[in-house]
Amino acid sequence: SKGNHRHFMEKEIHEQPEVISHTLANYLDFSKGRIRPGSAPVDFAKIDRIAASACGTAYYAGLVGKYWFERIARLPVDIDVASEFRYREMPLSKDSLALFVSQSGETADTLASLRYCKQQGLTIGTIVNVRESTMARESHTVFPTLAGPEVGVASTKAFTCQLSVLASLAVAAGKMRGTINEDEERQLVRELSEIPRYANQALRLEPQIEAISRDLSQVKHVLYLGRGTSYPLALEGALKLKEISYIHAEGYAAGELKHGPIALIDESMPVIVIAPYDHWFEKTVSNMQEVAARGGKIILITDEKGAAASTLNTMHTIVLPDTPEIIAPIIYALPIQMLAYYTAVFMGTDVDQPRNLAKSVTVE
Ligand code: M6R
Repeated sequence: SKGNHRHFMEKEIHEQPEVISHTLANYLDFSKGRIRPGSAPVDFAKIDRIAASACGTAYYAGLVGKYWFERIARLPVDIDVASEFRYREMPLSKDSLALFVSQSGETADTLASLRYCKQQGLTIGTIVNVRESTMARESHTVFPTLAGPEVGVASTKAFTCQLSVLASLAVAAGKMRGTINEDEERQLVRELSEIPRYANQALRLEPQIEAISRDLSQVKHVLYLGRGTSYPLALEGALKLKEISYIHAEGYAAGELKHGPIALIDESMPVIVIAPYDHWFEKTVSNMQEVAARGGKIILITDEKGAAASTLNTMHTIVLPDTPEIIAPIIYALPIQMLAYYTAVFMGTDVDQPRNLAKSVTVE
């Protein structure tokens, strides 16, 4: 049931600190500051690369995972949307791990990609929320997300739980591959353990985000920009907004702005910039300057350090607490979900059952 929430989506957004905490506890031993032995039963030291695929929001989670695996474990990741992957006949190595991400475990294209990789003799690992799903049954290794049933068509808590698993696996892989030592493992595990606390702080921004959403519900087009791990978040923000509010939105890598989309910028199109104060921040700010110079209205989502460092005039600035870099994509997902949610509420759409969409896409 929805309890005292208006929509399942609202309820599921608010459940995140708790379900992320359950999910992390499956992979991390907080008291020892270690990856739980046996929680990632794949020999990452023997794997040459990861071939990943998924659809929609699960694909964006995988895209964030790519940054983590490559950075923390020096393990290259090829990732593609499953509808392309399944027909591409990509040359695959038997030493690769085929990794799939799915809330339902039933998405037709992702399942077909899984079966293709299995036929090619790869080890199949799946991050999945529904334990008794087809994908879970057909995988060699299941990495569960413990998000509980997700009812809203727009994925929220499944996404942040997928990210939590991907971050944990990247740390496990780094440990097995010797790219991080025990101190670094302990440090990363400690940082991951703080996600629920930061997520609770992010939820407190709800009244401000509701007010900003009132403005957003008046516009026709929205652009989302981000760099590094914030780039997939920009894609996710745009998907979330379009699927439940029906407002046209696009997500772009901030550096791609001048390769085309900058032509769209005027006073009528807000630009949502996702920019924690990380090692990409300065670059993103210079892209923001280009937007501001053309009269674009900026909604900046950043942290305290970022807000202090940016000298730009923004229409709104959403200030999250300063977080360790690895957990930023998980924390920044929350304001992005709330923006889409409240905008849709102002538009009066059917938030939990948006038009033309199904929770689980079991036909291609
Ligand atoms: O069940 P899955 O995670 O495999 O579903 C994948 C996509 O269909 C799903 O994430 C979809 O994009 C959501 N409606 C996004 O909010």
